[in-house]
Amino acid sequence: MTPKVKRDFLRVADLTADELRQILEHAKAMKNQRSYGAHRRPLEGRSVALIFEKPSTRTRVSFEVGAFELGAHPVVLSTRDMQLGRGESIVDTARTLSRYVHAIVLRTAAHERIETLAAAATVPVINALTDDHHPCQILADLMTVRERKGALEGLRYAWIGDANNVARSWVEAAGRLGLTLTVASPEGYGFLSAELPAGVQQVVDPREAARGADVVITDVWASMGQEGDAAARRDAFAGYQVNTALLGEANPNALLLHCLPAHRGEEVEAALIDEPGAAVWDEAENRLHAQKALLEFLMR
Ligand code: CP
Ligand code: NVA
Repeated sequence: MTPKVKRDFLRVADLTADELRQILEHAKAMKNQRSYGAHRRPLEGRSVALIFEKPSTRTRVSFEVGAFELGAHPVVLSTRDMQLGRGESIVDTARTLSRYVHAIVLRTAAHERIETLAAAATVPVINALTDDHHPCQILADLMTVRERKGALEGLRYAWIGDANNVARSWVEAAGRLGLTLTVASPEGYGFLSAELPAGVQQVVDPREAARGADVVITDVWASMGQEGDAAARRDAFAGYQVNTALLGEANPNALLLHCLPAHRGEEVEAALIDEPGAAVWDEAENRLHAQKALLEFLMR
């Protein structure tokens, strides 16, 4: 008998286009069922470890509630309460946790850290954000675009901001699904051209990216861990705020996405987040449904 190969979700490219579509479709069905108060509990009797080495509101709560709703027991851990915080290695932690739980979700800084964990774990590992990738966010973002626009294809996507974790996961999604994405970043804050798949273009002028866009996506200028660089980044990104003028370049009814937390008045005009064209609260909610579908996909 061929041994079962465990699957991880460390980056968007870990899933095929078909698998991504399948997860999004399942997430939609789960959202629908939940609105009728119906819960299947396909992961009854299983447990999921959720380890946070950086702060989190949405990811933490959506995974904890999502695991519970699937019938699994979420074990929420912060490094400071674990031997991991006292120097036990990530490999030994992975081996130990694999004897107790059926999946491990990790938010950490260096992406290599989650790769090391995944290599040593014998259960599926899910990336809850690293410095380089935020793939769970993109599942929710894609789900939100499908809900609001009816389909992912045939749209123009604009990323306004730096080449951060969320942007890199968007770039991978565009590559996988064949989406037309334009990234606008100041010089020195963009992607290397080798990182960009066909269909993804990079420009410096945010108006060029926003022009004719159907979906405009942004994120903070200084991510977690870059706080010391925030002042320099505020200077570099002046002119990159997603505001009424910039959205005026986009198509009418363009959708605004932001993974949150936002610095209102900095990367995004303060009131825009509450306008009907912004889908950020649906986007935040969809983390729950998309991750439930992902957990079931990896753990079933
Ligand atoms: N968008 C997101 O990942 O939010 P949290 O940092 O609150 O989890
Ligand atoms: N790019 C942001 C995303 C937060 C969810 C960060 O890494 O801080």
